[in-house]
Amino acid sequence: MSAPPRPAKSIPNGSPAHDARPVTVPDFLAAKARGSRLTMLTAYDYTMARLLDTAGVDSILVGDSLGMVVQGQPDSLAVTLDEMIYHTRLVMRGVRRSLVVVDMPFMSFQVSPQQALESAGRLIKEGGAHAVKLEGGVRSAAAVAAITGADIPLVGHIGLTPQSVRRLGGYKVQRDADRLLDDALAIEAAGAFALVVECVPTELAQRITAALKIPTIGIGAGPHCDGQVLVTPDLLGLFTDLRPRFVKQYAELGEEVTRAVEEYCREVRGGQFPSAEYSFR
Ligand code: KIV
Repeated sequence: MSAPPRPAKSIPNGSPAHDARPVTVPDFLAAKARGSRLTMLTAYDYTMARLLDTAGVDSILVGDSLGMVVQGQPDSLAVTLDEMIYHTRLVMRGVRRSLVVVDMPFMSFQVSPQQALESAGRLIKEGGAHAVKLEGGVRSAAAVAAITGADIPLVGHIGLTPQSVRRLGGYKVQRDADRLLDDALAIEAAGAFALVVECVPTELAQRITAALKIPTIGIGAGPHCDGQVLVTPDLLGLFTDLRPRFVKQYAELGEEVTRAVEEYCREVRGGQFPSAEYSFR
């Protein structure tokens, strides 16, 4: 039987009171030690980054989910390192407090630890990212060690790793407990400061969380992780091509956008917009 979720507390200076002190890597580690829940959401541009930062989210992820929700591709595999750098620059301009973590896209770290370090270095130097994230457990540990060995903060990502979608045969819940525990421990030992755990049964995510000193950030992994992450266009109801069961839709902004645009078109066609109020004399 699983334990009840821990009561939520925010990290110091964290949401919702959110003063302007930037969130740091040590804040993440301290949050776990204190039992404070971490919040992470994705952003891909200045406007959304600014809204999330102002709302007090602890961390913004420039996810390679942008392949789907920004570029309209079927998965994240075609996203390039240059595209991630571009979107990171946009996001960084909107952020004052959140810790910005950027995904390393498919084939930017798999070739060798040297390639992984060079790609991570570009995300930091050219994009301005605070930290990077890469997918994979034991198989990615050498790449993680190369990156963290250069003092680049890194978040791991295990469980359902979307870059493996073709091998996995779809976006499915991952249940191999022994392998996932080995993966988690390997990524922690290689120097990661946090670990995204995606689409894993609640009890297994709880075991992984208990086994690690670094915080786990769950997505489809139940309430016992040290923090939670969602893809923002899913949460806001802006992207509805895929509807994973673990997404709670907090708003219906897609419907609101359609309603506003229909009204605009009606008013322009009917001559009501722009009225005198919106015109210069
Ligand atoms: O790319 C992304 O948005 C992610 C989240 C699903 C964690 O990796």
